[in-house]
Amino acid sequence: MLGDLAVRRLRLSFVRALAAAAVITIEGCGPLPMNYLDTKGASADPVTGLGWGLLGISVAVVTIISILLFWAIFRRRGSPQPDARGRIPLEPRGTQLYWIYIGVAISVIVLFATTVWTLRVLAQVMHPPVAPALTIQIDAHAWWWEARYQNGDSSSTFTTANEIHVPVGRVVRIELTSQDVIHSFWVPQLAGKMDVVPGRTNVTWIEALAPGRYRGQCAEFCGVEHAHMAFYVIADAPADFDRWWRHQLTSASSGLPGQVLFETNCAACHTVRGTSAHGIAGPDLSHLATRETLASGTVPNDSEHLDAWIRDPQAVKPGTTMPTLALSGPDRHQITTFLMSLK
Ligand code: CUA
Repeated sequence: MLGDLAVRRLRLSFVRALAAAAVITIEGCGPLPMNYLDTKGASADPVTGLGWGLLGISVAVVTIISILLFWAIFRRRGSPQPDARGRIPLEPRGTQLYWIYIGVAISVIVLFATTVWTLRVLAQVMHPPVAPALTIQIDAHAWWWEARYQNGDSSSTFTTANEIHVPVGRVVRIELTSQDVIHSFWVPQLAGKMDVVPGRTNVTWIEALAPGRYRGQCAEFCGVEHAHMAFYVIADAPADFDRWWRHQLTSASSGLPGQVLFETNCAACHTVRGTSAHGIAGPDLSHLATRETLASGTVPNDSEHLDAWIRDPQAVKPGTTMPTLALSGPDRHQITTFLMSLK
């Protein structure tokens, strides 16, 4: 048997371990990039409210039942008295069935209320409150995201990849298609998940309520690089968004010597507007230097990482369809310099 002192020490070390774990968790995470409890989207906020509400109800139910259970176990009752013939009655204090009726009635009321609340939230997030200001067609590939912007005028249509800009406070219609397997489009701070299925177009919508950079992630296992199929939604003030859109339409060509090498080696898969590279198998790289990450959020976008990515894509993202090209160091350096100039 453990002595009193040993038990106290054990309790103390348990409390210390819990406190240390909490500190490590809080310090280690920093601001959570995909915190679904801190939403900033018109179609995510009602779901967060519902989530907190259901959590509160669940905690209340568990607490009340635990209290009643302990009360039932520990309350003191006198022993039932035998009747004149020496038998002990089964129901010494008369029927107590009314407790069952009360319990069932409370459960029915609570479950009915939460069902109505859930259905209301579902109806709220199903359709946007106003007509969308623009449509973005998002095409999922293993393992990256292609985003096509259009506003009905073909001269202002363009394509980008993995970083999706939207205007704050405007409803954006998102049309989702897939080129290969089933993926799932998920930006937890802005909207719920939507499957991306080959052969059909699923539609969802987002409305960012605050400017910011929101991380998204493929949420359906889609192969070896599923975890590296991230993306960002960047919510800009409407004026900044318009400026960004106009900038995307400009020619990205910089005329650096690396451009010819790029057109020779990379044009089969990639497009850079203003050059002769019009490939569509890989991401559109026009204005690549304005993006913050490479390979769908896998590494930061800078000369060093870009060079490593071109040198040995499999080392950065094993399984990627980006081929390893037989380029000399100086040629690769020129291509990297050209791509980094695409502001
Ligand atoms: Cu795409 Cu998981």
